[in-house]
Amino acid sequence: MAINFEQVNFSYGAGTTLAQPILHDINVTIPDGQVTAIVGQTGSGKSTLIQHLNGLLKPTSGRIIIDDFILTNGIKEKQLTGLRARVGMVFQFPENQLFANTVLDDVMYAPINFGYSKREAQIAAKEALKRVHVSEKLWHKSPFELSGGQMRRVAMAGTLASNPDIVVLDEPAAGLDPKGQNELLNIVRDLKSAGKLVVLISHQMDHVIAVADHMIVMNNGRVAAEGTPTEIFNRDLSWFKEVALDLPKAGQFAEKLRQKGRSLSRRPLLLTELAKMLNGDDQHE
Ligand SMILES: Nc1ncnc2c1ncn2[C@@H]1O[C@H](COP(=O)(O)OP(=O)(O)O)[C@@H](O)[C@H]1O
Ligand SMILES: [Mg+2]
Repeated sequence: MAINFEQVNFSYGAGTTLAQPILHDINVTIPDGQVTAIVGQTGSGKSTLIQHLNGLLKPTSGRIIIDDFILTNGIKEKQLTGLRARVGMVFQFPENQLFANTVLDDVMYAPINFGYSKREAQIAAKEALKRVHVSEKLWHKSPFELSGGQMRRVAMAGTLASNPDIVVLDEPAAGLDPKGQNELLNIVRDLKSAGKLVVLISHQMDHVIAVADHMIVMNNGRVAAEGTPTEIFNRDLSWFKEVALDLPKAGQFAEKLRQKGRSLSRRPLLLTELAKMLNGDDQHE
């Protein structure tokens, strides 16, 4: 179930005088069974890129191979039904789309749309709500009585209820308090343990470190780098300025210490790792 982008270009309004080229020559692989983080400054094309994963946007040229499905510009809407069941998308602030009278009804809506019977949809919805740790006590409440973090998870359950193999999350932690953010990272870990391919857009490099196996860095509609978090976060400091990317907190501290004259053998990714290095009980030094 890996995903491959091959020479993908994308313009909004392609073929019109208002065509706006946004993605340029994208060639990346998103590995199966892993969490891939897509990072990059606002406007770099992250959301545009991920909307290709279920055919919401189609490449203007090039192709995207999602398992055995080939997405090209010429694909017809009705050919996308199968893909849409396999790729679950959670957009930014998904709780804005909650609408039903109860949490359970809201989560059942998507599977019913995918052709589940009411009974099947209810079973699937309950499973999805458990997966995102929404307590049974809340299932018959109005979604609007819930906290922000709970609403976010209910909205995610709606996507997960049809049991997609690929789960795409566009800034899922945005606007949540630290507790909500941690719950979300745990859900990402659970999805990976369940064998799903997860694509996560995030602005928080510490979240990326916490859950991602693989990273894609976008800059001005191009892939600026691809690799493991360790590979990416050990690049030259000047490169981070170029692509306007933050270091994780531990890396930021380490660079401040270096500026003050402290020599460090490498750039740590975790604060615990930095603490060890500073204590001198670091194996690598
Ligand atoms: N529907 C749209 N029509 C025209 N331009 C768009 C549309 N959506 C996004 N863009 C433009 O595409 C570029 C990339 O946006 P986006 O993919 O949302 O970036 P990111 O998610 O990294 O912030 C931006 O310049 C944005 O203004
Ligand atoms: Mg975006």
